[in-house]
Formats: sequence, C-alpha cells, structure tokens
Amino acid sequence: MLILGIESSCDETGVALVDAGGVQTPRLLAHALHSQVAMHEAYGGVVPELASRDHIRRVLPLTSGVLADAGRTLANVDVVAYTRGPGLAGALLVGAGVACALGAALDRPVLGIHHLEGHLLSPFLSADPPTFPFVALLVSGGHSQLMQVDGVGRYTLLGETIDDAAGEAFDKSAKLLGLGYPGGPALSRLAEQGNAEAFKLPRPLLHSGNLDFSFAGLKTAVLTQARKLGDALDARKADLAASTEAAIVEVLVKKSLAALTQTGLQRIVVAGGVGANRRLRQQLDAACAARRVRVHYPELALCTDNGAMIAMAAALRLRAGVQGASRTYAFDVRPRWPLDTRLADEIQTK
Ligand code: KG4
Ligand code: ZN
Repeated sequence: MLILGIESSCDETGVALVDAGGVQTPRLLAHALHSQVAMHEAYGGVVPELASRDHIRRVLPLTSGVLADAGRTLANVDVVAYTRGPGLAGALLVGAGVACALGAALDRPVLGIHHLEGHLLSPFLSADPPTFPFVALLVSGGHSQLMQVDGVGRYTLLGETIDDAAGEAFDKSAKLLGLGYPGGPALSRLAEQGNAEAFKLPRPLLHSGNLDFSFAGLKTAVLTQARKLGDALDARKADLAASTEAAIVEVLVKKSLAALTQTGLQRIVVAGGVGANRRLRQQLDAACAARRVRVHYPELALCTDNGAMIAMAAALRLRAGVQGASRTYAFDVRPRWPLDTRLADEIQTK
C-alpha cells in the first residue's frame, strides 16, 4: 500500500511516498521538501499569507517530483495523508485541500494526521527505529513537550512549556543577537566557537518538581546581558550564544531524565526541529549512556518539518488499526490541536 504524505503546516512544503508494507516496517520511497525560509527571512519570521501562497505554488510540482523519483504515478497511490493540524490555518488548508482533491479525483481515501504525531513517530524512518513504550521529547518551533508513548495513538502528556517553546527560545535569542531567522541553527553554529560557561543564564523550572518547561525568561536574560555588554557584544557573541544554548539544553536534558525516572522507561525518542541540535544530542547521549537508556533520533534531514513523517504516521496508524482512511472529502483543519485531545476524539469515534 502506497501512502502519499503532504505537510504544509508552517513554512516548509513537504511531500513523500511511503510503502506501508505488509508485515515489514513501512519504508520511505522518496521525499521532497521546499523550505520557505529565504522568503520569510526578510520579515524576521513567518508571514502566514505568504506561506499559504507559496504552499500552493510548490505542492503539485513537489508531488510530481516525488512520484518520478519513486518511479510511480498518481494511479499507484492508495491513500493520501495530510497534516490536519496544529499549524497556520491558511497553510494547513492548502495541504488538506490538495490532499482531498487528489483523493476525490483518484477515488482514494484520505487521512488527516496530527503534525506532532508525525514528529513523534519520525524516528521510525531511521535506520535504528525505536520500539514501544518510550518517552518522547518533542521540541520544535511551536512545541516543547514530554510524552509517554505506549503505542501508536497512545500518548500521555507528561509535561510541556508554559510559555515559549524550546525552538522559540533559540529563535528569539538568535534574533536578539542579530543572527537572522530561523535562529536555532545559526545560534548553534556560532555557539561552537564560544564558551558555554561564560555567562550565567537562568534555567527556568529546573527544580520545579514537575516536567513543565518555561523559556520566556531566557530571552529577557539574554537581552539584559547583550545590553550590559554594549559595544563589547560583538566580541562576546559566540560566548553568549554558547551560554544560551547550554541553558536550553541543560533544562531539556534534566527534564528528559526526570521523565524517564517518573515513568520507569528505558527508551527515549527526541523529535522536532531542536532535535537537530548537536549539543542536545551530545549531552542527552552521554546522560542516557550512563543510565543505560536507549536514545533514538530521526535522521537529521527529517528532524524539521517534512512529508515523510506524515506519510509514516499515516502508515503506522492504518497498520495499528487506530484510524481508518476516509472517503469523505469534506475537510477541516485544526490550527490548535492538543495531541491528547485528538486521541480522545479518535477513541470516541471508533
Ligand atoms: O519542527 P520544526 O521544523 O517546526 C515546527 O514544527 O516548529 O522546528 C523548527 C525549530 C525552529 O525553532 C528552529 O530554530 C529549530 O527548530 N532548530 C534548531 C536547530 N535546527 C532547527 N534549534 C537548535 N539547534 C538546531 N540545530
Ligand atoms: Zn514541526
């Protein structure tokens, strides 16, 4: 069974073709991505209307490219999956609209997927896929969550950010340092040349006793430091970047370890754009090796938004029987959609 996956929740158009397989694990046949980063850069962040329009321009050419790469045609597609939420409403509508139109035209069922479930299950596309159950650290531009994952569609929220997401903390701090948008990768690159202990920055909620995060105070602390440095900032920028990255990473690693202790689980999956961060990977690997905990990451290229994770999540949901594909092509999108709630919805409609 071939699943076409379409992702358009934010500023990347992603399309992929996954072979859901029979008994074997689903396999990625081809995927393609168009990032809008260069287009939004001038505005210092994502402009929703521009994002939607660009998704419209990209989605069909990307689909043709993916099918050609896989040596297949639209007629070979059995199910069309798309990101139903959360994300930018207009951007989501493009993917949902195209997916449902393709489904209707081809007489194939469609499946709306939760973007975070895509991230969460994206390590199943890697050469070292996890097995259930595991703790998931979901760290993206819009979300920071720790979940307990007992199986496909069986997710329990353990803790989440009460304000900014980890990726947002990277992006906002990077902006303050004049590093452009999105700042996460740029800040992380600059941090490699700096001293992570140069500045004492807050580790919010580190000892809160629960698994929630708070990153909003960090950007204020970075701003205060930058102002204090004044003209000296340029010479110390790498140190400040390294100290910022260290503060974010320490909180993420300590809370992940606390989640492992609380659940008694021996396996953790890291997903979402911030999962590409080198320091996070190094520190989490070291901490988990000491505790004999297995860590799984998506392939680097599949950490940030992509269509492969959407097609993969659809394949796993269909295989697990937690959701059927539908031939009702009237679509809606869910710009705000907690992963837990969706689970309850799905169980009620089963
Ligand atoms: O998952 P994602 O592509 O989009 C959302 O669903 O939000 O995550 C994007 C976020 C951005 O905030 C970006 O700055 C951050 O991931 N990011 C990084 C790195 N690569 C991407 N943050 C820190 N270090 C990186 N290497
Ligand atoms: Zn994402």
